[in-house]
Amino acid sequence: MVEVKAIDLEKKFGDFQAVYKSSLSVREGEILTLLGPSGSGKSTILRMIAGLIFPTAGKIFFDDRDVTFIPSQQRNTALVFQNYALFPHMSVAKNVEYGLVIRKVPKEERKKRVKEALKLVKMEQFMDRMPNKLSGGQQQRVALARALVVNPDVLLLDEPLSNLDAKLRVETRQEIRELVKSLNLTAIFVTHDQSEALAISDKIAVMEIGFIRQIGTPSEIWEYPETAFVGSFIGDANMIEMTVQNVKNNEYVLLSLATETESPPLKSTYFRGIEKVGNIARVVIRPDKVRITTQSADATNYITGIVKSVQFFGRYNLVLVELTEKHDITVYDSSMLALKKGETVYLNISPQDVKAFGPSNY
Ligand SMILES: Nc1ncnc2c1ncn2[C@@H]1O[C@H](COP(=O)(O)OP(=O)(O)OP(=O)(O)O)[C@@H](O)[C@H]1O
Ligand SMILES: [Mg+2]
Repeated sequence: MVEVKAIDLEKKFGDFQAVYKSSLSVREGEILTLLGPSGSGKSTILRMIAGLIFPTAGKIFFDDRDVTFIPSQQRNTALVFQNYALFPHMSVAKNVEYGLVIRKVPKEERKKRVKEALKLVKMEQFMDRMPNKLSGGQQQRVALARALVVNPDVLLLDEPLSNLDAKLRVETRQEIRELVKSLNLTAIFVTHDQSEALAISDKIAVMEIGFIRQIGTPSEIWEYPETAFVGSFIGDANMIEMTVQNVKNNEYVLLSLATETESPPLKSTYFRGIEKVGNIARVVIRPDKVRITTQSADATNYITGIVKSVQFFGRYNLVLVELTEKHDITVYDSSMLALKKGETVYLNISPQDVKAFGPSNY
């Protein structure tokens, strides 16, 4: 197995820059996930690491070997796509065997390895089936076996679960994680689903318009977002714009919804890139970090709003609160207050849960 390192990778397609200076590293036994919205450059980075396309600038290393311009066949990577891409006219076993035939592995060994690979993904009993007689989840397992059978150094997975239903996705991602760990593979996983990324990854690289905005463990990304985009892309989050009223060195900032306001300012002790009074901050507030009260006497570090709707969600009520004409905020109220539409409420938020980002960290 190898450590994959990408250093200052860039990719242009003609005039269009799909990936800007991006660096990452993945050790053996580790899953790094490229997470970001559609078009953010995830597949482009993956395809450069696979050797299917070459970067415009930057370098890729597998351990100390510079593979930047080494063609795909000489890299020992295996790629699994979203649309399983099994050969329809070949049985499951033949599909899995294909990569070994190409690599001129002797027949006896091929049989053995196909069996092992199918066993890994729990598809042994389907060896002789044709792909069109398998469910989506089963087809994706075969695709995985086909990738694993060649003993790749690096396993690359491009949205491999997106065609599966919700329950199967959860199961399959756990299986993929266990496989990577037990085979000590180096894996890069692509998804635009943040909950999938949180569940499967050792490290997440969050991408936006061709940039890797932040790399960290799932909990680092969750707790300590460096930009408003990262904070709002991971987990359910409100993002509202507020004006900076006061900046107290590295201690706290005070924010308000408008430049002139009657309610007291909201204090934030988690802020990035806020330089001065008057800056517009993008403020990320998670719905479960807000405590609703109906009396101002019970309120600390709060903003006021008016209840627009209350929906029962089982473990909590989803409360939509209007802050201003332009701003609504969603709150998960687990204390299940009996709130009425039109009622004034106080939304209490601990200063460290008011995550504020200035222009350089949008
Ligand atoms: N061969 C190409 N020629 C021109 N532009 C391309 C090419 N491949 C990708 N792009 C562009 O580069 C950008 C990044 O594409 P990429 O496929 O990496 O996005 P992605 O993050 O994988 O998105 P998705 O989640 O939709 O798969 C997109 O704007 C895309 O249109
Ligand atoms: Mg893609």
